[in-house]
Amino acid sequence: MNQPSIFVEQARVLDLVSLPAEQYVIRLQAPECASTVAPGNFIHLQCDHTPYALKRPFSVMRSHAEAGWIEILFKVVGSGSAALAKARIGDHLQAMGPIGNGFELSAEDAIPLLIGGGVGIPPIVFFAEELKKSAGKTAMVVMGSEIPFPFDVQHSQQSLAGMPKGIDAAMGLLEDINVPSRLSSKQGYAGCFDGYVHELAEKWLSGIDPHQQSKIEVFACGPTPMLQAVATFCQRHQLKCQLSLEEHMACAVGGCAGCNVLITENGQQSMRRVCVDGPIFDANIVYPAV
Ligand SMILES: Cc1cc2nc3c(=O)[nH]c(=O)nc-3n(C[C@H](O)[C@H](O)[C@H](O)COP(=O)(O)OP(=O)(O)OC[C@H]3O[C@@H](n4cnc5c(N)ncnc54)[C@H](O)[C@@H]3O)c2cc1C
Ligand code: FES
Repeated sequence: MNQPSIFVEQARVLDLVSLPAEQYVIRLQAPECASTVAPGNFIHLQCDHTPYALKRPFSVMRSHAEAGWIEILFKVVGSGSAALAKARIGDHLQAMGPIGNGFELSAEDAIPLLIGGGVGIPPIVFFAEELKKSAGKTAMVVMGSEIPFPFDVQHSQQSLAGMPKGIDAAMGLLEDINVPSRLSSKQGYAGCFDGYVHELAEKWLSGIDPHQQSKIEVFACGPTPMLQAVATFCQRHQLKCQLSLEEHMACAVGGCAGCNVLITENGQQSMRRVCVDGPIFDANIVYPAV
């Protein structure tokens, strides 16, 4: 996918919702960004007003082009995110974006399997909604979290071929648009698969018809160990897989090389910048099969 234009705008805080475990959803009026943002893109956002404070990268979770807003979901982990959690409605925060490439299906008849872990959930939600809305495609979505899920969890009425018995916890927002989803956690939450999200994904995959299985394309965002595990099971099942990586970022526009990652392509190693060459990469170049 081509890189979108990167806009710099003073985004107005429209809403800030506090969720359990220091998670927040912030809605920003950022019409330029909202008009072109695609699933997988992120914004580089001012979090506080102290002089010289660095912006922080956050994936866009939802957008509304006509109304001109974007939403991000974030967890407080340090000073930047803590300051953002104190933003007030009406505040203006400088937002650069959308930045980076987006998730993309490679074949028209592909069946998308979307996997999100922790703060990797936002771009997965965006992609699932967009696939349904723009391409009429229904993805299978699995998401995992070890803290309370940052959204309304429902017990799904849809039974899903290949899904282990009793696993019926689903994301309400996706249920409402008839996109099947299932949740995993090791915290014993009702209806969730007891294990990691990549284990749930592989269990479901192993239970479906082999013809369907061969059409699966996997898209994942989450912590590094989860991405590595997803890459490994995709290699085992010979599935195409795109991973959204997270790295520390200073400039977010390709100038500082602070976000470099090592990739291996055709046996050659080189560095790529997560901000502008990614954040989405083919799993096989990030974690080559051994
Ligand atoms: C492309 C991209 C998309 C992201 N999307 C989201 C999102 O949707 N929601 C969300 O909550 N977070 C997201 N993040 C992570 C978010 O940018 C960091 O949590 C944030 O920058 C932390 O800033 P801080 O000042 O609060 O914490 P800091 O004080 O900077 O760091 C606190 C802790 O978090 C770790 N950390 C900080 N930044 C990163 C990073 N980029 N990758 C891995 N570990 C990090 C630090 O090592 C430290 O342990 C994303 C990161 C990237 C690169
Ligand atoms: S953050 Fe500066 S090059 Fe990516």
